[in-house]
Amino acid sequence: MSEQTAINDKQLVAIHAANLVEDGMIIGLGTGSTANYFIEELARKKQQDGLQFITVASSVVSTIKAQQLGLDLVAIEHLSQLDLYVDGADEVTADKTLLKGRGFDLVKEKLLAKASNSFYVLADNTKLVDRIGEKYPIPVEVSPYSWQLVLRSLQQIGGEGSLRANANGDGLAITSHGSLVLDMTFDSSIGSDDLNSKLNAIPGVVEHGIFHQLAASIFIGNNGVVEKR
Ligand code: A5P
Repeated sequence: MSEQTAINDKQLVAIHAANLVEDGMIIGLGTGSTANYFIEELARKKQQDGLQFITVASSVVSTIKAQQLGLDLVAIEHLSQLDLYVDGADEVTADKTLLKGRGFDLVKEKLLAKASNSFYVLADNTKLVDRIGEKYPIPVEVSPYSWQLVLRSLQQIGGEGSLRANANGDGLAITSHGSLVLDMTFDSSIGSDDLNSKLNAIPGVVEHGIFHQLAASIFIGNNGVVEKR
């Protein structure tokens, strides 16, 4: 008798998204534990079903993962668009706005989300929130030379925050893009649409973690069932 391994909700939505991949697609690979399940399922489909596709990675971590699993990778600079981008998120609202960037790869993640014909987001129900910024501060990537000027601009629109520390707490976090990160909180009365526009307008912001009107579909794993938004 074969043993069946129970899959968790992140794996469930990753497998669901992989089933939507078609032969010949160029697929963007996200970063994080949920995106990793998607990459693993793509590799399985390539090996076992002969599915053919090319991938582009959003981070060093997803590049390494894809390389280890034998996926064909193209560098992001060779592309002007892609068919599909699949990634996780840190927070998801009812209107499909996302918070991303607990990792260090915001810039490529948002580029791929924008350049893809479809951006599918994979989440479990722990990611659902009423408003962006409910559980986590909003990451704002800044060039090292500009962080104080940007912090002041952020404070002028009501933000409070500071530079993100590295994992050991003995230095600063540096993103894949070579930026610093300001983790910012804002008053809950500011809507994410408004905040997105305000952050977009601040000089010196390299990128920020609000992904507004980018997601085509969100697949939410909820105790073994995939719900689509
Ligand atoms: C990476 O920068 C983030 O935006 C991730 O997408 C996010 O942290 C999701 O991670 P998990 O899939 O591990 O929850």
